[in-house]
Amino acid sequence: MSLDVAFTPIGHGGAEVQGRTVFVVDILRATTTICAALHHGARAIVPAASTEEALRLGQTLGSDDVLLAGERNTERIPGFALGNSPLEMTPEAVRGKLLVLTTTNGTGALLAAQGAATVYLAAAVNIGQAGRRAREIHRGGGDVLVICAGREGGFGLDDAYCAGRLVQAAIGDKKNTEGLNDAALASLDLVRRYGERWERPLRLSAAGRDLIAAGFRADITEAARPDAYPVLPQFAERRVTLEAPAS
Ligand code: MLT
Repeated sequence: MSLDVAFTPIGHGGAEVQGRTVFVVDILRATTTICAALHHGARAIVPAASTEEALRLGQTLGSDDVLLAGERNTERIPGFALGNSPLEMTPEAVRGKLLVLTTTNGTGALLAAQGAATVYLAAAVNIGQAGRRAREIHRGGGDVLVICAGREGGFGLDDAYCAGRLVQAAIGDKKNTEGLNDAALASLDLVRRYGERWERPLRLSAAGRDLIAAGFRADITEAARPDAYPVLPQFAERRVTLEAPAS
């Protein structure tokens, strides 16, 4: 029964994820955006590692229902239908669509987690759903790993804070930190440091500052709305969909 956090995806693919339940966090903005898209009726999101792969997948999947989405340097990729803003994922834009999405850090972190027993996506907008599932698995004796997308292979305050909120939910606010690795303990310290309001650590983070500089301040406000999109996205068989209801 372990509850680990990895502040970056580096070194946390392959054997490291096997047999574990992984939660991938890229609160600014990929996991927030995917929650928004699924909540508003997108059929599925296919993560792509690069712009070229997204274009290729778009052609292979090629139907009227497929939309290319993604960013580089926070801006929509030229020629793509959508960027990586949760505010673009309106019902009018995404209902019934399959999105092929590529982002700087988030989609790579998701792809690195392939091979885990189960992969879920977490952010503030679905923290209730993700936290409940993490708690069930942790209390049931399962191994949980929270992978932060971070920032180009490094630490990101926004994701680390979100990981702390997920760990807090998993242990149920108790003082019992048995089974937590050092990064999980440190992520809990960030929650103590920044408190319950999501927006401050998001705004202070480098990712947040970049978004503000690029004119996406509203995306931070959106990403800081707890349970705004109460869904539990699951990544399996190369696509992210809403978790199938228990039979
Ligand atoms: C990422 O994957 O690095 C982010 O989601 C970038 C962004 O804010 O668009």
